[in-house]
Amino acid sequence: MLDQAQKLRQLASDNTAKKGKPRIITVTSGKGGVGKSNIVVNLSIALQKSGKRVLIFDADVGMGNDDVLMGFLPKYNVFDIIFNSKTIEEVVVQGPYGLGLLPAGSGLNRIEDISTKQREEFIKKLSSLENLDYILMDTGAGISRTVLGFIACCEELIMLTTPEPTSLTDAYSLLKAVNHFKLKSRARVIINRAFDEKEALITYNKFNNAVNNFLKMELEYLGMVSEDRRIVQSVRAQQPFIMAYPNCDASRDIERLAQRISGIEGSTEGIGVQGLFKKIFSIFS
Ligand SMILES: Nc1ncnc2c1ncn2[C@@H]1O[C@H](COP(=O)(O)OP(=O)(O)OP(=O)(O)O)[C@@H](O)[C@H]1O
Ligand SMILES: [Mg+2]
Repeated sequence: MLDQAQKLRQLASDNTAKKGKPRIITVTSGKGGVGKSNIVVNLSIALQKSGKRVLIFDADVGMGNDDVLMGFLPKYNVFDIIFNSKTIEEVVVQGPYGLGLLPAGSGLNRIEDISTKQREEFIKKLSSLENLDYILMDTGAGISRTVLGFIACCEELIMLTTPEPTSLTDAYSLLKAVNHFKLKSRARVIINRAFDEKEALITYNKFNNAVNNFLKMELEYLGMVSEDRRIVQSVRAQQPFIMAYPNCDASRDIERLAQRISGIEGSTEGIGVQGLFKKIFSIFS
């Protein structure tokens, strides 16, 4: 699926990229259905297209649907690597431009059943996923132990909300829990389904004021994604909107977000994919 230009971009970024660990970014929200999966899938495609190497970890345990949004039906998930001796290559699904998708499946509740030996073998297998620039984790919504666990595991947190008051209050409640358990001290915010940038900024400022007043948490505005019916059409057609409608408002917004994320200096001292799963094992068992 790699086109010529994509290969060139990857070569170019190979030369310039510091040999570091991937940036591990979690996208989450308080309220469900606000657009996390659509943003993770399309943002990952935009980053991959620009020459980065991206892996989506669909961590919406039991309800993951990043595969559905890309029109795939993966046969296996993380637990087939652990319990059914599948290899990483058999389980990771290849998306547009060579983007990888690792489905978590519904097995996190079986984490206690994994022996130390199985954990070690799994972590060893993950070394074939080196050379990534980004791991984007898509979590479920709401304040659950699972979602808080994934927030604790990541290095960068993106909170997604729409301008609707219900979405904002749920996002606030989630950050309150993050703050209470001291999981993260900063988060970036994307406002989805805004009618224009002005509405997005008003929404962000309102949210930021509430957080500044009551929580010990620093927020940063990352950007917005427009309300766009092309997204609804693309979901129905099981095609990422950035592929089906590259020039629609939402696709342009996603490109801008991808550029902004690439422009932010990430830590090269990160925990890496093996460190991420070691952390997941220790938090979830
Ligand atoms: N910017 C947008 N413009 C128009 N519709 C949108 C937009 N973003 C999301 N939607 C609609 O919201 C639906 C839900 O989006 P999505 O599945 O990405 O949300 P989610 O936060 O991942 O949900 P869940 O919490 O269930 O995982 C989409 O199928 C689409 O119909
Ligand atoms: Mg989702």
